[in-house]
Amino acid sequence: MKSLKIGICGWGNVATGMFNALHDNVDAIKQNSGCSFNIEVIGARRDNPKCNPGNTKIVRDIFEVCNHDIDVVVELIGGVDVARELILKAINNKKHVITANKAVIYHHGDEIFTAAKEQGVKVLFESAVCAGTPIIKLLSEELAANNITKISGMLNGTSNFILSNMEEGSEFEPTLALAQKEGYAEPDPAFDIEGMDAAHKIGILSSIAYGSPLPPEDFYIEGITHIEKDDFTYAADMGYTIKHLAVAKLERNSLELRAHPALIKVSSHLANLKGVRNGMELDTDLIGKIHIAGSGAGQESTASGLISDLIHLSNCPNVDSSQKEQQKSVHELSVFGDLVFQYYFYLDAEDKPGVMASITSLLASKKVGIESIVQKEDRGKDSVPIILITDPFKENDHAELQKELLGLDSVKAIRSIRIEAE
Ligand code: HSE
Repeated sequence: MKSLKIGICGWGNVATGMFNALHDNVDAIKQNSGCSFNIEVIGARRDNPKCNPGNTKIVRDIFEVCNHDIDVVVELIGGVDVARELILKAINNKKHVITANKAVIYHHGDEIFTAAKEQGVKVLFESAVCAGTPIIKLLSEELAANNITKISGMLNGTSNFILSNMEEGSEFEPTLALAQKEGYAEPDPAFDIEGMDAAHKIGILSSIAYGSPLPPEDFYIEGITHIEKDDFTYAADMGYTIKHLAVAKLERNSLELRAHPALIKVSSHLANLKGVRNGMELDTDLIGKIHIAGSGAGQESTASGLISDLIHLSNCPNVDSSQKEQQKSVHELSVFGDLVFQYYFYLDAEDKPGVMASITSLLASKKVGIESIVQKEDRGKDSVPIILITDPFKENDHAELQKELLGLDSVKAIRSIRIEAE
């Protein structure tokens, strides 16, 4: 029987979820892994009325946990600066570290991994990306023999929940409120709906698959706040739905990193992952496309990821033989403006002769081809929706084209969404 002595830092939802799962699933864990785990100490700034830690020692100074006779510090305090300090202290005290904290790994990953290597300890973070859905070990171990050309998917459960509900006819705001009530959303939901949470996650996945730095260089991040319910109807008419996609793609030694809403084919695997689920598609050379989906938020899913790290640590505590070298990326980050997309445009235009001609002439003058342009039904207002799908053109020209379309006398409003190439 392999056993580990654990110190937990933090005593909120995530920590108590792991505590309960270790207790409730003790038999399954022993049977499946042959491992047992003893929680020696919990660093809790305050009691949590939702969980009784029994006889486990509680200390109020979370940093003190690192001084105990334990094998691993499980950092579950969240945030960035104090979490970084705590992780570095644990490492310097030669404790392995497990964390569910994506922000600290995104902002300080390289510093933390370097310190861990120097001290001969491991830092594991399976639940930092998509909670218990096992993407980190999948990439770093199971798929390590593959060249991975693209990772794409919905990495933010809240955004997927909101967009899936809008697809069924709900409005944005009440659906966000529901996501907050269900506990999917971050304490500041702007991180979810403005794309930051998904960006953190794709930055981390890219560092594993492509050796890009943590923190990454700046890359394009856009959220879902400008998507309207009607966009789903118009997209569906053309065989698309709308998802918030985070993408890391390697092409000709150039690394593309981006997180933004995109039209994807309704027939695609990702299109069918609805609700709070996370889902990813990985393009590999040896196995072809791989799909993985699961709950990417919540106490239980996060507990599953944390316990998988504990099991990994029990099985492979020896850093020299198993810790992957952090390779520095040799790939240049692509300039977002140089990328080429097809675009969906919604134009709210006056219903009068010549409108279509003015739009198509403008596109022709910009040398932007049109795949389709459709005037939708009159909504009883003095304007009609026109839905335009362009041929592929450079992102650099997108903002200017949008501005000039809006500058046409007959166009009252405009919005656009990129179309993800298959
Ligand atoms: N707020 C996150 C999400 C959960 O909605 O996916 C944890 O990353």
